[in-house]
Amino acid sequence: MDKSFEQKIKDSYNEKAIERDGHEIQSWKAKEREVFLGYLKKEKVDSLLEIGAGTGKDSLYFKEQGLNTFSTDISAEMIRLCGKKGLQAEVMNFAELGFPDNHFDSIWALNCLLHVPKNEISDVLKELTRVLKTSGLFYFGVYGGRNQEGIWEDDAYSPKRFFSFFEDDSLKALLAKFFIIEYFNVVPKEVVGGEFHFQSVILRNK
Ligand SMILES: C[S@@+](CC[C@H](N)C(=O)[O-])C[C@H]1O[C@@H](n2cnc3c(N)ncnc32)[C@H](O)[C@@H]1O
Repeated sequence: MDKSFEQKIKDSYNEKAIERDGHEIQSWKAKEREVFLGYLKKEKVDSLLEIGAGTGKDSLYFKEQGLNTFSTDISAEMIRLCGKKGLQAEVMNFAELGFPDNHFDSIWALNCLLHVPKNEISDVLKELTRVLKTSGLFYFGVYGGRNQEGIWEDDAYSPKRFFSFFEDDSLKALLAKFFIIEYFNVVPKEVVGGEFHFQSVILRNK
């Protein structure tokens, strides 16, 4: 990930952090957390790493459910807001995580890996397999439904953000190279609101 790309995404999210902290969670997203929690509870999972954690609302939910959470994000402002919620949190790029191999029982990634260019996503996924324990669970949730990447010209963020989207089959093929796909569900556009549907995936480390 080149430095100017990294700086732009930091600037976009630093500026919007407080506004995003005021957003109410949509009910379909709350359901996503419940589905993953169901998997975690069945397997008596203890630790959870959140990448691209944003303001930390999901880490807080999992912490309140008894998990030992660690929130990371590339935006210092987001991590400050995680800290204010009493979360263990650190600024970190998910392309280069400062944790030992086989460290976490589970990973939660909601709408953050869609900021990775297609020619870099395999390296990021490899990094996630490294810090996740063997057989550990990984929730991967993104908007998608068509193969496309680039700057979103209508974006209200400044700088305008880069997004990468996948058709369902392309996403499955990519993820299957690194993980076992335990669950793949599509939340329809009508529920999500907007031009993309949502791809909800639960993966297991090989
Ligand atoms: C759309 S927001 C989602 C935040 C949160 N997961 C949520 O659902 O509200 C994307 C987040 O990913 C973070 N992010 C983008 N690229 C990142 C990277 N390379 N490493 C770590 N975090 C990154 C952004 O700073 C931002 O907080």
